[in-house]
Amino acid sequence: MQMKNSLVYFTGTGNSLAVARLLAAKLPGTEVHSVGRMLEGSHFDLDCGTCGFVFPVNCQDAPEIMRRLVRRVHLPADAYVYAVATHNGDVGFSHFTLDRILRKNGQRLRAGFAVLMPGNSIAPYNSTNSDEETQKRVLAAASEVAKIADCVERQERQPFSGSASLRKRLKGFRNMLRHRVFNSVPENFWVTDACNHCGLCARICPENNICVTADTVKWGKHCQICLACIHWCPQRAIQNGTETITRKRYHHPDITLEDMICRSKDSCPKHSLS
Ligand SMILES: Cc1cc2nc3c(=O)[nH]c(=O)nc-3n(C[C@H](O)[C@H](O)[C@H](O)COP(=O)(O)O)c2cc1C
Ligand code: SF4
Ligand code: SF4
Repeated sequence: MQMKNSLVYFTGTGNSLAVARLLAAKLPGTEVHSVGRMLEGSHFDLDCGTCGFVFPVNCQDAPEIMRRLVRRVHLPADAYVYAVATHNGDVGFSHFTLDRILRKNGQRLRAGFAVLMPGNSIAPYNSTNSDEETQKRVLAAASEVAKIADCVERQERQPFSGSASLRKRLKGFRNMLRHRVFNSVPENFWVTDACNHCGLCARICPENNICVTADTVKWGKHCQICLACIHWCPQRAIQNGTETITRKRYHHPDITLEDMICRSKDSCPKHSLS
């Protein structure tokens, strides 16, 4: 029997997972899948009537890990496919990118929604919000998601949020270079003495890009710049450059560290965790 609704999410600090859960609660019969687990399990068949991709905007675009998943996923030809970009003010060309990928597989994006959420970038620039603004955005998101659920139930076509203009693409490219050079270089990550080698950062990294041993914590070259490791480290030990030492950490108030864990200690064989 065809399952009614699927939601596939990627998240760094919980905003997109919170939105996916709110949406699932409004759409009966919804299965929620994490991109990381789908990729690790090579599970790409979604037999559903509607499918939503929920993700954070990353440098004016959909994150690379979400694009990789959308390239591989198999959906029924008549499925209503939509995207929900969680963002901090600039959706950029995220929806246009996903539509282009889907069209190569005989599908297309019927609607591109956007939900303004608290910012989570803390290096090289700080875009986190005050507690008041965070609370305001989290509350407003709930009513925005209710409107999105109505559209999905009616399978409405919706114009994409954001734009695919050349200016946006150039801005996205420049920001991506900036983040790639600054954030995702393995040597730019380091830990303070507060690190107790608990191994949680290795278990939440969607790309299995962190190696924790009894003496060291090391980053590989496959960073998505989701900043999950920095924001979720229980000891606030992870730094990126020096700016992050004094900057506050953020995660969505309804999402827990447990929700973020995507692999067990045992499934990190290359990490010898304490
Ligand atoms: C490296 C990086 C790049 C980002 N680029 C953008 C952007 O181009 N436009 C935007 O509106 N928000 C941008 N953001 C903010 C996030 O998209 C936003 O806070 C999102 O809701 C985070 O969702 P998450 O908690 O599910 O990861 C960026 C965040 C990071 C860490
Ligand atoms: S989560 Fe934090 S404390 Fe635990 S190993 Fe990673 S850096 Fe260290
Ligand atoms: S290393 Fe950190 S920022 Fe990079 S993908 Fe893993 S959790 Fe995200």
